[in-house]
Parts: sequence; structure tokens; C-alpha cells
Amino acid sequence: MIVPDSRDETIEQPIERQMTTSHATMADERDTGAQDLPPGVTPTGDAPPPDAQVDGATGSADRSAAVSMPEGAVPTSRAGNPVPGAEVAAMFDDIAPVYDRMNTLMTFGLDGRWRRAAVQATHLSAGDAVIDVACGTGKLAATLAERVGPFGRVLAVDLAPGMIAEATEQNRDLVQLEFRVADALALAVPDDAFDAATIAFGLRNLPDYEAGFRELARVVRPGGRVVCLELSVPRPRVWGRIYHGVFRRSAPLLGSMFGRRDAYSYLPQSLEGFPNPDELVRTMTGAGLVDVSYRRLALGAVALHRGTVLS
Ligand SMILES: C[S@@+](CC[C@H](N)C(=O)[O-])C[C@H]1O[C@@H](n2cnc3c(N)ncnc32)[C@H](O)[C@@H]1O
Repeated sequence: MIVPDSRDETIEQPIERQMTTSHATMADERDTGAQDLPPGVTPTGDAPPPDAQVDGATGSADRSAAVSMPEGAVPTSRAGNPVPGAEVAAMFDDIAPVYDRMNTLMTFGLDGRWRRAAVQATHLSAGDAVIDVACGTGKLAATLAERVGPFGRVLAVDLAPGMIAEATEQNRDLVQLEFRVADALALAVPDDAFDAATIAFGLRNLPDYEAGFRELARVVRPGGRVVCLELSVPRPRVWGRIYHGVFRRSAPLLGSMFGRRDAYSYLPQSLEGFPNPDELVRTMTGAGLVDVSYRRLALGAVALHRGTVLS
């Protein structure tokens, strides 16, 4: 459940963090992100990840180890989602028919605002080309298509064929919008092909977050933008704790209304151990992006990051 934030539409708010490659890079500079959190709460405010042990010095997840953390332990963030891609795709295939209705329920209909904020952060103009990765049912891709207009181009990709089928069905009228099944970590497109790249609520599903950003940066021309919209830990931390407790319980409950309890249990799990916004800045910078910054939406339950491909 995500709580409304009346400031969501104010795009040009002060930027909370800014970094360039000159002063924040690479995995060995990652901090744990856990230092200011209460016992039992991960950097995302949720329960410790049951299936990934993380090396705090490097931030790299040991995905081979299934470790159950003791109650009250504070794990560091992980470098990627430990759930295999095939399982992730199968799960999203399963929920594709109900995905939009669930989103509206879980976000009180605010997800549209956040996507518009993401589109604005791309700085795209009419006629530009953009790729939307992990596009789901194509809501962000459709908003991008409106932005670039009929002479622009939007390529939207997703690992789950069921999502691509839904997206195609829902967006037949947008000639500038093409949907394809593809893995975010291996986009079959040339370098520098797009003016911007976006990923919305998809990053936390990837097996390697930094590799995800590297691939987005690869396909964007120098000076173009990479924009990431993702769930995050709300502040202050007491609120984060409450939020994640509610999210962990309510997502499977809401999912069961649509006969998808198991799939919607994955949702809060995918957020466990996910880097906090500051760590994500470092991840993006480590992937070679510059002028990386973010702003929080929905009282911090959502973070909007943006970076620029080095000219
Ligand atoms: C929570 S949905 C977000 C969908 C959409 N971007 C939105 O804003 O509603 C996450 C999407 O990521 C996709 N996904 C997961 N792993 C992926 C990967 N490795 N490559 C491409 N898409 C992936 C899933 O299939 C799913 O459609």
C-alpha cells in the first residue's frame, strides 16, 4: 500500500542527492545503508532476505547461499534479485491479466502520476527515441509515446510474454510504440540507439542492478538520460517500518482477491534488501552514469532516480 503525496506532481523539487563519477563510484565505496535503521529492519525497512547473504564491503550478493537471518539482524543491501529470471517471468505472466487493477488498488491510483514524473525526468522531446525496459502492461511506454509523438519511437521490452501480450492488446492505437519480449540485461539493440531509457518498478526484479543500469546506459546516446522509478523505504524510519509491515501483509491479501496470493507475496520479498536511494545513486554511478540524482515520491515509498550518459 502506498500513501498519497500531494507533492507528487511537483517535478522540480530540490534534488536530495547528486553525484558524479568524480566523487562516488564503484562497489568498493558502497556503504551498508543499514546504519540508520532500527533492529530488524533492512535498508528497505522489510524483513531480512531469507535467501541471500551479502558482503557488506563490496555490496555483492552471494546468491548461492541460503541464509536465514536471526530476528533483529540488519542485513546489508543486495546487488541483485536472487530469484531466477525464469521464475520471475512465470510469476509476471501469471499476474499479467490482473496487474493493472492490482496496481490501481495498491497505489490508490497514484501510479499514473509517478509515471508522468518519470517521463518528465527523461527530458525527451517530440520525435525522440526511447526504450522502456521491464515495461509490464505498457503504461509508462504509452505515456512516453505521447511525449515523443507520432514521429518519435518507443521500444518497450519485458521478460514476460504475458505482459507483452497485455501491453500490445492495450496499445494498438499508438503507431510509434513497439513491444518486444527481451531481457533487461541483454537488450538486442545497438549502442547509443536511444535518447533516453526508463525502467519503472522493474529494477528490483533484475539479478544484477548495476548490470541493469550498464545495459540501459549502453543503449542511450551520450548526454541522454536514464530514469528509474522504483519502490523505496519511506522516512522517517518508524513510518518505513509501519509501511513495510503493512505492505508485507496486504500485498498477498490483495493478491488473493484475484487468486494470485503467491505471486503477490513475491512483491514485498523483491523489495527486501533492495538498495536505499543513496545506495542506488552509487549503483548508477558505478554503471558509468553521471549527474545522478533522485527525489522521493509518496512520502518516500517511491524513489525517482535519473542519471546522464557520459558525453
Ligand atoms: C512490477 S512490474 C512493472 C511493470 C511496469 N514497468 C510498470 O510500471 O507497471 C515488473 C516487470 O519487470 C519485468 N521483468 C522482470 N525481470 C525482467 C528482466 N530481466 N528483463 C525484462 N523485464 C523483466 C516483469 O516481467 C514485470 O513485467
